[in-house]
Amino acid sequence: MENRNTAPVGVFDSGVGGLTVVREIARQLPDENIIYFGDTARVPYGSKSQNTIIRFSEQIIRFLKTKQVKAIVIACNTASALALDAVRDEFDIPVMGVVIPGARAAVEATRNRKIGVVGTDATVQSGMYTKVIHEMAPDVTVIEKACPLFVPLVEEGFKEHVVTREVIKYYLESMRDTDIDAMILGCTHYPLLRSKIRDYLGEKIQIVNPAYETAMDLKELLREQNMENGGATLEHSRYAFYVSDAAEKFRMFANTVMPFDVPTTNVVNIEEY
Ligand code: DGL
Repeated sequence: MENRNTAPVGVFDSGVGGLTVVREIARQLPDENIIYFGDTARVPYGSKSQNTIIRFSEQIIRFLKTKQVKAIVIACNTASALALDAVRDEFDIPVMGVVIPGARAAVEATRNRKIGVVGTDATVQSGMYTKVIHEMAPDVTVIEKACPLFVPLVEEGFKEHVVTREVIKYYLESMRDTDIDAMILGCTHYPLLRSKIRDYLGEKIQIVNPAYETAMDLKELLREQNMENGGATLEHSRYAFYVSDAAEKFRMFANTVMPFDVPTTNVVNIEEY
């Protein structure tokens, strides 16, 4: 790679949700260039099998590598849970996910050693959050719950809708009745419902967004490997957004999430990679 330091960081997700991770990386690592890929043609990953999620992740990593990225962040919880172990050793650049940083943040946050995790069906079925939390802290009790309707509600712009309040109650009532004191938002879309989830759960449960810790880990990784893009002036045009379908819909959504204007989104035929 010609100049590793100025090379972009690749970030990918099954669709728009990973923008919550990009937003956090942009905030904490303002000097880094980012290439984002959202797999809008094949979303959701949360209802797919592990083999499929691994195959999709491999294709996306091959695509991002054509953009000379220096490191890759799997922003998607589902792909982090089901594909990270498979792809990490397969490629010659660092690949990190959101599950380990999210689990660590929750282990640090809990006082009574009881953590809740919400995510897609695939993430919850994989049990990966529980596994990683137990590797870090075997004494912690973990309660996982799939909340599959949260993703389409966010995608449809229903953040403020009364239906969303009902769905939050439907999924999280059992969680609220436990005595967990920390809960991981183990899906990219859920941070966009954070204030509604907070209203429902109340103050006694700390809500953990893995994006924050993921950006911190990325910073550490780039520093350790001497790959930081030190002091370059950032222009947001140095962020490039790619999708596998529906570029305009993605762009409009991106403009509701990102703190700056996303002027263009490019479509890639990801099946070619
Ligand atoms: N990005 C996915 C995740 O974080 C949610 C959407 C999907 O199911 O693909 O798990």
